[in-house]
Amino acid sequence: MYECLLQPVDLGPTRIANRIFNPPHGTTLGHKGQVSDDLIAYHEARARGGVGLIIMESMTLHPSYGFEEAFLYAGDDRIISGLNRLAVICRKHGTAVFGQLFHAGRGVRLSHDGSRPLSYSASDVPDERYRVIPVPMSTDMIWEIIDSYASAAGRLADAELDGVEILASMGYLIAQFLNPHTNRRDDEFGGDLTNRMRFLREIINQCRLRIGKNKTLGIRITLDEKTDKAMPPDEIIEVCRRLETDNHIDYYSVISGSSAAPEGWVHVFPPMAIKQGFVIDDAARLKAAVDKPVLVAGRINQPQMARSVIAENKADMVGMARALIADPEFVNKFASQRADEIRACIGCNQACVGHRLAHFPISCIQNPLSGRENKLGEIRSVAAGKRIVVIGGGPAGMKAAAVAAQRGHYVELHEKTSRLGGQVNLAEALPGRAEFGGVTTNLQAELSKYQVRVFLNSHLDEPRLLSIKPDRVVIATGAKTRLPEVEVEGIDLVDSWSVIRGEAAVGKNIVIADWSCDWSGLGLAEKFACDGHYVRLYCGGSVAGESIQAIVRDHWIGILHRLGVEIVTYARFSGAVGGSVYFQHMTAGEAIVCDNVDTVVSCYAARSSSECDWVEQIADISAIKVGDALAPRTVEEAVLEGLNSVWNY
Ligand SMILES: Cc1cc2nc3c(=O)[nH]c(=O)nc-3n(C[C@H](O)[C@H](O)[C@H](O)COP(=O)(O)O)c2cc1C
Ligand code: SF4
Repeated sequence: MYECLLQPVDLGPTRIANRIFNPPHGTTLGHKGQVSDDLIAYHEARARGGVGLIIMESMTLHPSYGFEEAFLYAGDDRIISGLNRLAVICRKHGTAVFGQLFHAGRGVRLSHDGSRPLSYSASDVPDERYRVIPVPMSTDMIWEIIDSYASAAGRLADAELDGVEILASMGYLIAQFLNPHTNRRDDEFGGDLTNRMRFLREIINQCRLRIGKNKTLGIRITLDEKTDKAMPPDEIIEVCRRLETDNHIDYYSVISGSSAAPEGWVHVFPPMAIKQGFVIDDAARLKAAVDKPVLVAGRINQPQMARSVIAENKADMVGMARALIADPEFVNKFASQRADEIRACIGCNQACVGHRLAHFPISCIQNPLSGRENKLGEIRSVAAGKRIVVIGGGPAGMKAAAVAAQRGHYVELHEKTSRLGGQVNLAEALPGRAEFGGVTTNLQAELSKYQVRVFLNSHLDEPRLLSIKPDRVVIATGAKTRLPEVEVEGIDLVDSWSVIRGEAAVGKNIVIADWSCDWSGLGLAEKFACDGHYVRLYCGGSVAGESIQAIVRDHWIGILHRLGVEIVTYARFSGAVGGSVYFQHMTAGEAIVCDNVDTVVSCYAARSSSECDWVEQIADISAIKVGDALAPRTVEEAVLEGLNSVWNY
C-alpha cells in the first residue's frame, strides 16, 4: 500500500533506503555541546524504527553564536568522535545520517550567562521576536564565518556522516543576507541578488571543497516566511535556480516560516490549528523549478499524506519531526501493514517544542519514552504476570493499563462513564482542537493491542474490587471542576467544563474569568465568538494562554483577535453583582469593572477526585495514584505517571 514510500532515493552520492526522513530538530539531549548517550539512544530508536535518513539537529559553528547547553557545537574537533559513534550505530539499521550547520545571526535572545547578547548580522536591522540590535558583520568576520562553515562541514565529514545540510532558512543568518530588508550592505555581500547570495554561495562552495564529492550537501530553504518582511517566494526559487547552475547542491529541503516575527515563528513549529501538509505546495513549486531532489516537512503525520506527496511527485522525500518524536516506529509500522498502530502526533507542541524552547530535553505528551530512551530503556516483560486494576479511563489510566498489559500483566480498566478519554474529551470539543482527541484514539489502540479488559459505566466498590483480587490498583480518577470562592449575585456563574459538555447555558454577553490561562479559556472564547456571542476574556496572567506552549498560544491569540474577542490581562476575578463583573488588577490592585454581562464562565483550578481514596486503606492492595487524581495538571504528566506506575512493577 505504501510501496512508493519504501523506494530508495539518491541524494547526491548517498542512497537513502526509503522516502521518510527525520528533519533536524533540537533535542536538548546533547551535553555541553557534545553528542551524549541520551542523544545516541534517541536517534537509534528512530533508525531502528525504519526511517531512511536522519538529519541531525542544528549545530553551531562559530563563537559569535551558540549555546553549548542547547546546541551541538561543530566549531571544534571535539564533536567528531560523538557524531561518529551516532552515525555508525544508525547506519547499522540502514539509516543515513546528515548534520545541519546553523548560525542564527540576529536571532538570539540571551547570551551564555543570561545577559543580553552581542548578535551579528548583515546589517543592524532588528527583528520582532528577539528585539536584539545586531552588529553589522565586518568583511573579515564574514569570511571568517564562511571559513567556519567549511571547517565544521569538514568535521561532519571526518565523523563519517553521510552528508551536510546548510540551514539557509527561517530568517536566520544566511536568510538575513539573502533578504534585502535585513541586508542593507553596499559591499560585495549586499545590493542585488547576486551580491546578497554571495554569502550562501561562498559557504556552499567552501563546504563542497572541504567535504569532496562523496558526501551529500543540501540546503534547508524557506519559500514562504509568512512575515510581512519576507523575501518573495519567486526570488527564493531564483536563488535555487542559480545554485542549480553552480552544481554543488544535492538537494533542497523546503520549510515554512521565520524566526523573525511571531506569525512566521508559528509556522516553523506549526500547531494543530495549522493545516496538515501546509508546506507541500511550496515544495511542489520548487520541484517544478529545479532538477535536484526536493524534501518537504510540516505537519505531515500520516503515511497516507506522505504517500500522496511522493505519488504525485510533489517532493522526493517527506520529513516527519514530531510524528517520529511521537512514534519512532512510524516507518516500520506502515511498512508492515500496521499503519493503524501509528501513534499520530497531534501538533500540541507541548513536550517537544515546549521543552526545547525552555531548554529541557524533548519528549512527547503521548510517548514519555521519547527523549528518555537511554534513561528508561525498553518496556520489559514480566516473568509472572500479576493482576492489575486501573480505576479511571483518562490518559493516565489508559497509559498505565496499556503498559502493564504490554509487560504481561492481567489488566482490567474500569471507567465510570460511558466513554474513555477523561478531559481529552473536553479539549477536543473546542474549535480547531479535534486532533487532540487523537490522544484517546491512540491510547485506545494500545489498550486493544495489549488486550486490556475495559469496563465502561463501571462503578467499583470494595466488594467488587476485592472480588477481582488485584495485586495493584492504579487510581486514575482524574479531577473535578470547581468554582472560585467569590461572591456572585444575580448573574449566572458557570464552570468551563459544564459549558463544554453542553450542561450549562450561556447568554449573549459573556465574560470568561480565566484563572487557568490554558486551552479552556482560549478555546471557549473562540467557540463563543464563532457562535455569535460578545466575548470578553479576562486572564489572571500576563498574557492570555500563559500556561500553554507559547506558539500554540500566539496562534490562538491571533484567531481571537480576528474574531473580535476583547482580552484583558492581569485580571483577578473578585465577584459579580447584577450585570457587572469585578476584577482586580493583579499589580495595580485597582478594580476593573465589566458591565452588561449575562454569563460569567469560570476557568478555574480543578480539584483532585478523592472518590477512590478508600482503596488506599485496603491493607493487602498496593495502590498508587496518578495524574490529576494526585494533582490536577496536563495530559503530559498524566501519561508519564501512568507509565511510571507500572514501569517496574
Ligand atoms: C523540537 C523541535 C526542534 C526543532 N529544531 C530544528 C532545528 O534545529 N533545525 C531545523 O532546521 N528545524 C528544526 N525544527 C523544525 C523541524 O525540522 C520541522 O521542520 C518542523 O517541526 C515541522 O515538521 P513536523 O510537522 O514534521 O514536526 C525543530 C522542530 C521541533 C519540533
Ligand atoms: S508533544 Fe504533541 S506535538 Fe510534540 S510530538 Fe507529542 S503529540 Fe506531537
